[in-house]
Amino acid sequence: MRVLVIGSGGREHALCVAMAGDPAVSALSCTPGNAGTAALAPPPEVPQTTGSMDVSQPKQIAAAARHWAADLVVIGPEVPLVAGAADAVRAAGIACFGPSREAAALEGSKTFAKQVMIAAGVPTAEAVTVASTADLQAALDRFGAPYVVKDDGLAAGKGVLVTEDREAATDHGRTILAGGHCVVVEDYLDGPEVSLFAVTDGTTVLALQPAQDFKRIGDGDTGRNTGGMGAYSPLPWAPPHLVADVMSSVLQPTVDELRRRGTPFTGLLYAGLALTSRGVRVIEFNARFGDPETQVVLPLLITPLAGLLYAAATGRLADHDPLQWRTGAAVAVVVAAPGYPENPRTGQVVHGADGPDVRQASTERAPDGRVLATGGRVLSVVGTGPDLAAARRAAYAAVGTITLGGGQYRTDIAQAAVEGRVRVPWRRERGQRWAQPPGTRRRSPG
Ligand code: AMP
Ligand code: GLY
Repeated sequence: MRVLVIGSGGREHALCVAMAGDPAVSALSCTPGNAGTAALAPPPEVPQTTGSMDVSQPKQIAAAARHWAADLVVIGPEVPLVAGAADAVRAAGIACFGPSREAAALEGSKTFAKQVMIAAGVPTAEAVTVASTADLQAALDRFGAPYVVKDDGLAAGKGVLVTEDREAATDHGRTILAGGHCVVVEDYLDGPEVSLFAVTDGTTVLALQPAQDFKRIGDGDTGRNTGGMGAYSPLPWAPPHLVADVMSSVLQPTVDELRRRGTPFTGLLYAGLALTSRGVRVIEFNARFGDPETQVVLPLLITPLAGLLYAAATGRLADHDPLQWRTGAAVAVVVAAPGYPENPRTGQVVHGADGPDVRQASTERAPDGRVLATGGRVLSVVGTGPDLAAARRAAYAAVGTITLGGGQYRTDIAQAAVEGRVRVPWRRERGQRWAQPPGTRRRSPG
């Protein structure tokens, strides 16, 4: 099977590493790619008039897939999905792992995601969407502090502000409105966050192992939101029935609802969850693998990845064997450019980027062979081990082998979990479904 991966981040490098080890894969290519993917999965040589591929252009993706004779296209990032890249690839007669433009709106529009969740009875934060400053103020009054103010559209993980500061909440909302987007204001969700990925063909859903991501730039969850500064999997503190409960209360109902609407979701459904004092709540959906969670989930998956994604892309997941997992744990630590997330400074030489534990992200190879930083999250380093403490030690030992001028990384990835300090504020009792404790009424399908 010839597999073409679209994207250029650490997630795509991790997908390539996993699929390079799948005996069913005869050729692997990644475009536009980075210095890490280029070594493993060189981009297709497509006659092009201008530079590298623009992933926001579905036609370019479909043309590359056809030219390279791909059997399967795996679309990594949200931008091409929301633009309709999966539709274009499928229209070219090629199997594609990734949802249609309409189904990817689950990530592309927070308002649409809320509508789907309400219709499917999926537990989430109550929210309102506003289009004016007056309505913004009314919504902030209604929900109170801590304020949660979001960009309704795509914002690379940086559109959300959670703050006690009313003025900052107002300013953030005004900036989003000034950019021509609507603003979503919602209930604050307490409790630890979980990223749960599910592979689906639009009907059958297979959940992967849960992970936790670290969204803030600074140690102790301080500073600005980022795309993600580190991750670990599995979660030693997670309630034992978490995955089964989220499957029945969140993942399957969402997939069923999109199919019912005539826009089935084929690809990776990522549920960003909060385990709150009132049970599980969906913070957001993404329509693709998470970054950097993919870097920790895939090394633990024994099941060959390309076969799994091909089964989903061709509607044959019901016949797929149950997923098999390695025991042990994985930890990823992101190394970011100085100034990230506000204003990353790039162009530095990165030393150590070609190590086997590195998943490169914003990198390119200079003609002299050196690796240069080209963006905010430059790479992630993945440590694995028999338990989380060992994986964490391995990850930080590997970080020590990287040099990036002015580079920054968090020193506390997975630390609270290793030290047993992650607390789920609500405990499942006998006979209760964890995701929806008694007193939480399911909203009737609308
Ligand atoms: P999102 O882009 O919706 O995933 O939000 C990014 C991050 O903002 C999440 O991972 C949370 O840490 C935080 N966040 C988003 N929504 C809420 C909420 N309703 N309550 C508390 N924190 C939130
Ligand atoms: N790590 C968060 C995301 O991929 O959206």
